[in-house]
Amino acid sequence: MPDSKIIIALDYPAAEEARSFYKQVDPARCRVKVGKELFTRAGPDFVRELVDAGFDVFLDLKFHDIPNTVAQACRAAAELGVWMLNVHALGGRAMLEAAREGIDMSTHSPLLIAVTILTSMREADLKDIGINTSVAEQVQRLAYLAKLCKLDGVVCSPHEVVALRATLGDKSCLVTPGIRPKGSETGDQKRVMTPKQAIDLGASYLVIGRPITQANDPMVILADIEQELVS
Ligand code: C5P
Repeated sequence: MPDSKIIIALDYPAAEEARSFYKQVDPARCRVKVGKELFTRAGPDFVRELVDAGFDVFLDLKFHDIPNTVAQACRAAAELGVWMLNVHALGGRAMLEAAREGIDMSTHSPLLIAVTILTSMREADLKDIGINTSVAEQVQRLAYLAKLCKLDGVVCSPHEVVALRATLGDKSCLVTPGIRPKGSETGDQKRVMTPKQAIDLGASYLVIGRPITQANDPMVILADIEQELVS
């Protein structure tokens, strides 16, 4: 089993592009994330292909539905052999508990993590949907609820890591996108951190997409990031 803290986001429109990328990458040195676009186009067969190629797969489908549906979806995802999957904490206590039970019904036991408040949302967006607290407070509340429901951790901004580590404790898994190695383009990510900064603050895993996937030689960038993390 690989022990890398790096999860590469395979944000490709179709299996062929994702395949030509992953064939250049050593599964012992990273994990991979499959999100809604690639999954919708390439489906469970491609997820199985990645698992068979030796990758730890984070299936980033952010389930959010009635408890029974989410339980069955989580069970189905676990049975694909993925390493990690996620649900929206806004689905509430019964849904989170059902997600946990769905995984416990499966013979595999992937990590189950929660999305709290999407980082695209601001306080005004919360007001629009009737939530009258700050984003930071709501993130804490949902993360704590996920912990009570025995989820393994949360996806969060690197800027939320310190506060969430204090609330959730050492064992929780904190997965952070919004990571940019030194010298790379920020693209549409607004509040970024370097891999080392995020790990030093207490992140468990780093989701990194374009800085690696759009590089001429992805393994060189991966090696640079590994070097940065041990320095
Ligand atoms: O290319 P980049 O490194 O920005 O990719 C980050 C990945 O993490 C993308 O798959 C994106 O959808 C995901 N993500 C994010 N911010 C969040 C949650 C997920 O960038 N708050």
